[in-house]
Amino acid sequence: MAHHIHVGRPTATWQEAVVAGAPDGVLLVDGAGRVQAMNPAAEQIFGMTAEGAAGRSVQAFVPERMRERHAGLMMDFFATAVSPRGMQERAPVAAVRANGEEFMAEIALIPVKVGEERMVACIVRDVTEQLQMQAAAARAERLESLRVLSAGLAHDFNNILATVTGNAEFALQRAGEDSLLREALEDIREAGRRAAEMVRQMLRFAGGGELAREPVDLIAVTLDTLRMLRGALGNGVMATTDLPETPVVVMADPVGIRQVLMNLIINASEAMAEGGGTLTVRVGHQRVTRAYLDRCRQRTCFGCADAQPGAYACLEVADTGVGMDAATLERIFEPFFSTKFQGRGLGLAAVLGVVVGHRGAVHVESEKGKGTTFRVLLPLTCEG
Ligand SMILES: Nc1ncnc2c1ncn2[C@@H]1O[C@H](COP(=O)(O)OP(=O)(O)O)[C@@H](O)[C@H]1O
Ligand SMILES: [Mg+2]
Repeated sequence: MAHHIHVGRPTATWQEAVVAGAPDGVLLVDGAGRVQAMNPAAEQIFGMTAEGAAGRSVQAFVPERMRERHAGLMMDFFATAVSPRGMQERAPVAAVRANGEEFMAEIALIPVKVGEERMVACIVRDVTEQLQMQAAAARAERLESLRVLSAGLAHDFNNILATVTGNAEFALQRAGEDSLLREALEDIREAGRRAAEMVRQMLRFAGGGELAREPVDLIAVTLDTLRMLRGALGNGVMATTDLPETPVVVMADPVGIRQVLMNLIINASEAMAEGGGTLTVRVGHQRVTRAYLDRCRQRTCFGCADAQPGAYACLEVADTGVGMDAATLERIFEPFFSTKFQGRGLGLAAVLGVVVGHRGAVHVESEKGKGTTFRVLLPLTCEG
């Protein structure tokens, strides 16, 4: 007895059923580069119906900057691809949806004969999400090796610095009235202090040293930090806050939290050094769901992979400054990564260390020329 597979039309052959049900998009393109047919997965991927696509040039699915090259490749393909085994091109290429959104696709091309006409079947797999996950994993791995390196360096430097500053101190006590000598020794002591501060930030990133656990009201810390930094903010920078009426308390390390806030505010202010702008600090509560964390993993988020759903406090620092491009955004949490002339690149590394130490997450959104928002999530109840 024959088995009938009912997909769409009840008279579908098994080949038709496979194409209709395939998770990959399938497009049939004629020798003139026009779309003849499209399966439901392709409709989904490109955001248009098969009827809407019929007769349109495949170039519509190619980003504008690549159309010329694509046209050449297409002609070559129709001229040479006679192999019945089909040509495979599985390296991800950029493609574009009907709404103009670009995405990354793996494409396999199969020459097919439909009636007497030579056509090509394009099998399209949307790998955008997969590539984003891979990039996030690579980023996490890079940060982890930098963390190990920083921990080792910071530890050794601490010992060396103890000798330098201790001996400078000792020599100062013995230097008597020689003012040139005193000045030299004071310079050594001051340089030692600056180096010690760098080492502290590196240790923060490395997650070394214990974090205290005490009730910290984020509103109080925000107001305090802003008061303290008032003089340090750039001239054209307007600072505003968006704070709830009641305290937002987390069990946290007060020194660490203050440092997070300071580093984010200073960066925001520096991002607006040229044209001025508005700095906004927001504090609030946020319920973090599994769905939220899953969405996060596809964006620029750090720490989300290990974060658990639950009740969180959130601390947001937003600016209307220079913003960042994707390449910069990719690396901002690396220690010693800086785009600033005199930057050390340790601020955000320390931020990440503190946040991860609290089992929290940092979420960044930025647009070149528009501004940046850092959102720190800290679990309200924290074990470990
Ligand atoms: N608010 C922001 N706006 C734009 N770029 C930022 C912002 N915060 C951080 N960055 C980018 O991240 C880099 C690293 O920041 P950070 O670790 O604090 O080091 P530094 O401030 O010493 O450069 C900066 O050099 C800058 O390129
Ligand atoms: Mg900084």
